[in-house]
Formats: sequence, structure tokens, C-alpha cells
Amino acid sequence: MVRSRVLSGVQPTGALHLGNWLGAIRNWVDLQNDHDTFVCVVDLHAITVPHDPARLADDTLTTAALYLACGIDPARTTVFVQSHVAAHSELCWLLNCVTPLNWLERMIQFKEKALKQGDNVSVGLLDYPVLMAADILLYDADLVPVGEDQKQHLELARDIAQQRINARFGSEDAPLLKVPKPLILKEGARVMSLTDGRSKMSKSDPNEGSRITLLDPPDLITKKIKRAKTDPQMGLEFDHPDRPETDNLLGLYAILSGKGRDAVASECASMGWGQFKPLLADATVAALEPIQARYRELMNERSELERVLNQGQQQAEAVAQATVERVRQGLGFLARH
Ligand code: TYM
Repeated sequence: MVRSRVLSGVQPTGALHLGNWLGAIRNWVDLQNDHDTFVCVVDLHAITVPHDPARLADDTLTTAALYLACGIDPARTTVFVQSHVAAHSELCWLLNCVTPLNWLERMIQFKEKALKQGDNVSVGLLDYPVLMAADILLYDADLVPVGEDQKQHLELARDIAQQRINARFGSEDAPLLKVPKPLILKEGARVMSLTDGRSKMSKSDPNEGSRITLLDPPDLITKKIKRAKTDPQMGLEFDHPDRPETDNLLGLYAILSGKGRDAVASECASMGWGQFKPLLADATVAALEPIQARYRELMNERSELERVLNQGQQQAEAVAQATVERVRQGLGFLARH
């Protein structure tokens, strides 16, 4: 039986945080057992906002090491760096030429990020979702496991594939591109900031206390949780519309302790914050400890990591190149030999 294909990626901008792990990477690890899984470090996306060239390569390697440390197994998953496979840029260009400008101008993330960049907004930032569509469509992905914030970008990728490529250049029985589906799990799909329960945990928040990164040492994790925003009410409950911080911290505890929502709802129903926060800190430290230990080992085996990425590049290239050729043909380009 042909296994369905999965593709996803994370940007190598700064340290990965709990949202990246719980919203995305954790799901990739489960999927690799019975899917044909491709995961990439999307370094081309990382330069859509001003970046530090002295850090890009290291951050890319660190991100790949974290994938493996979180449980991605290169024997079952193709792990690669986006910019190592030139087909991403090539398909992006082909898709650019059929994507209406106003589809990109209405992307929520573009509007939010553009606001922060002021006069410095690059064409790349606007084009970011088309590159993301190319990432997905190149691999004929059936499923794209992401956090909630990527839903609109996934819809755009579907629209480009269906309306702009298949409908115009393919035939009904031989579509040029596979139309992918998002996979957004309920738990962990939207981890919120520790300092504001109404905004998501994000790498770009200037306040480092707003996020826990996968490499934070135990004492820093405990400190950040101790300082996390709460409310003055006794008793902790899920889903209260006026208590977004409570919902977020309880949700994290349910996942990180492995106890699940129902058990946590009854355990914490009459707790105050003084009792709850050390429990959450201990559960977080314990959940990240094995990832951090494995990460340290991997970073001492740099050549092995490079071998994994090299092999991933070759496997990815074979699939991606075939798709680009198919699209080139559909669009009517002179064949290259
Ligand atoms: P990025 O690097 O911002 O985030 C990587 C993944 O982490 C998820 N995520 C979260 N999930 C839950 N709670 C949060 N607070 C949180 N913050 C981030 C994101 O939803 C994402 O799944 N454009 C993408 C990267 C990308 C991609 C792709 C993803 C490029 N090409 C192709 C899938 C397929 C991005 O910037 O993610």
C-alpha cells in the first residue's frame, strides 16, 4: 500500500520553543511511523526579515539537531535543508507568476509582520506563502502538520494548486499538483505567550520571558514559569473566556505531564497558583530533559548530522525535481536535457 506523504518545516530563526514542538514537531514524530515523511529546515523563509548572516548556518544546523533530538528518525523521515534543494526556489517562481497579488496582501501574518518592519518590508516577506506552497507542492504532500497560525497559508497553497495550476494547466484525470490538507491537532496547536494569554508564543516576541525554548536550562524554565502572567482567582479551570492564561498553562501541564485534560482539570480544580506553578515547572523540565541530552550528543557528532542532511538533500531532490519537470511541461517550457 502506498503510504500518504507528509511535509512540514520550521524556520531556523532563534531557538525553537514549546509552541513549535507541541504544535508541529511532536506530530511529525508520530506521523513518521506510518507515513512517508519529509521535514525541512526552512532557511529561505528565515531571510524574509532582516537576518544575521553570521548565525544562519549555525541556526540551521541547530534546528535540524533539534528535530532529531525530539524524535525524528532519519531512517524513517527525510530530513533536509530547504535551500539545499534548488527546486524550492524554482517552483516558487513558477507559482509566483500565477498567484494574484491580492491573495498575498490579505495574509494575516504578512500584515502583522509588515507592520513591525515599517518601511523595510521585503518582497520576500510578501512572497513567503508562495515559497511555503512550493515547499509543500513539490513533494505531492497529502498532509501538512502545522500549528493553527499556518492555516491560512495552507489554504493558499491549496488554492494555488487547484485553481491556478491544475484548473488552468492540468486535466481532470491528470492534475499537475496534489492538493494538500492541513493537519492541525486540537491539543498544542496554539500555545500562548507566558506574558499574555491572548497572543501566541512566538520567536519574534522581544520579551524572552514570553516563551520557553527547548534549550532553556531548568532554572530558567522555573523562573519563566514563576513570572508567567496569571490572575488573582483561586481554582484553575479550562476554557474560561476571561482566563486565557489559566487555559494556556493548564493546557501545557496536561500535555507535558502526559496526564491529559480530564485528569488535570480535576487535579487542579481547587489549586492556587503557588501550588500549580512548581508542578508545571517540574513537568516542563522533565519533558525537555531527554531532548536536551540528545541534542548535546548530536551537536558533538556534527559530521553525522551533516551526513543526515546530505542524504536528505539527495532523497528530497529526486522527488522535487520530478515535480518541477511536470509543472514546467504543463506550463509549456522547452524541455531541458
Ligand atoms: P514557524 O517557523 O513560525 O513555526 C513552525 C511550526 O510551529 C508552529 N507554531 C506553533 N504551534 C503552536 N503554538 C504556537 N505558539 C506556535 N508557533 C509556531 C507553526 O504553526 C509551524 O507549524 N511558514 C512556516 C514554516 C514553513 C512550513 C512550510 C510549514 C515553511 N514552509 C511548509 C509547513 C509546510 C513557519 O514560519 O513556521
